[in-house]
Amino acid sequence: MSSFKILITSQKGGVGKSTVAANLAAFVRRLGQSVTLIDFDTHASSSNWLNRAPEIGVSVQHHLLPLEQGGKRPILDARLHLRRAAERADVVVCDLTWIDAIASELMLEFDLVIVPTSVSEIELSATAGFLNRHRWVFDTIILHSAPTLLMCPTRVHAEQLRSDVFSNQRFPVSFMLAPPVLEAQSARDMFERGYLIDLPDACGASFNEFGKAVMAALDMRQANLASREANKTTTNLSSIVRQPLHQPTASKMVTVSSQASILGRHRLQKMRADATSGKSTLVPAQATTNSLASMRIPQFFKRMSMGMSTK
Ligand SMILES: Nc1ncnc2c1ncn2[C@@H]1O[C@H](COP(=O)(O)OP(=O)(O)OP(=O)(O)O)[C@@H](O)[C@H]1O
Ligand SMILES: [Mg+2]
Repeated sequence: MSSFKILITSQKGGVGKSTVAANLAAFVRRLGQSVTLIDFDTHASSSNWLNRAPEIGVSVQHHLLPLEQGGKRPILDARLHLRRAAERADVVVCDLTWIDAIASELMLEFDLVIVPTSVSEIELSATAGFLNRHRWVFDTIILHSAPTLLMCPTRVHAEQLRSDVFSNQRFPVSFMLAPPVLEAQSARDMFERGYLIDLPDACGASFNEFGKAVMAALDMRQANLASREANKTTTNLSSIVRQPLHQPTASKMVTVSSQASILGRHRLQKMRADATSGKSTLVPAQATTNSLASMRIPQFFKRMSMGMSTK
């Protein structure tokens, strides 16, 4: 079985990693997928959450990495746990507070790396620094197996929805931007008692939008990998029959913003697929944009959701 491996990480404390990890595992489980959560944190917040809240069917593991041993040991341990879990689950979600002793290489084990960050300038700057230290991991030109990077604004206050912070920051790598998870007392109250996906308020709605965006990111990744494989075959064939190799394609004509959102990428993907099949429709992206509009997602999120650069 090939399973999706998702890492939720950042070097910052208290940004909402464990909340996102436990509740994303619950979200995916509700979709009918088998899910394992691996909690690599000493606090054990995400594993305690899932173990103590009403049973939702996520398999939970808690492992401490031998970080004090340094070298390759922590990575080898993590890889072993991850691969074992991946043999039995459709989706594996890992919660890990990153520290410098961990080699960036570990990120290559994952399909999706989710970095929760608050949207204050100071935290975004720390997040940009974190990504800068690991930027080679996300460089798809060097590594065709690079994980997809998804930035997740977390604990976002209503008044922050009007700010335009992502356009002021210079991030060193391309990433997709997920819809924000809103700050709410109800989210704190759910700890070990229930799940954000069941909250009937704006925070619950925001988390469900975030969950859908994660699933869309995984779909896109799969489609991208499949089309890359197909392109390889086409290129080989065309060289054999001596057809021109460099015909303009929709994908070459699209300029991908360094700050493309999940929905923006989704839209670009649709455009590429439609260009190839001769169709021209933006309906699915429109539907998603409508649901964002109904949540009053701020202008900067909407703008990026249209796949336009904010520079
Ligand atoms: N959307 C939210 N709204 C309100 N409070 C939240 C939200 N997400 C997380 N919190 C609260 O923020 C605090 C930190 O959250 P959490 O433990 O998930 O973050 P973390 O990044 O895993 O922290 P640590 O670095 O300690 O592992 C907790 O008190 C949690 O209840
Ligand atoms: Mg935590």
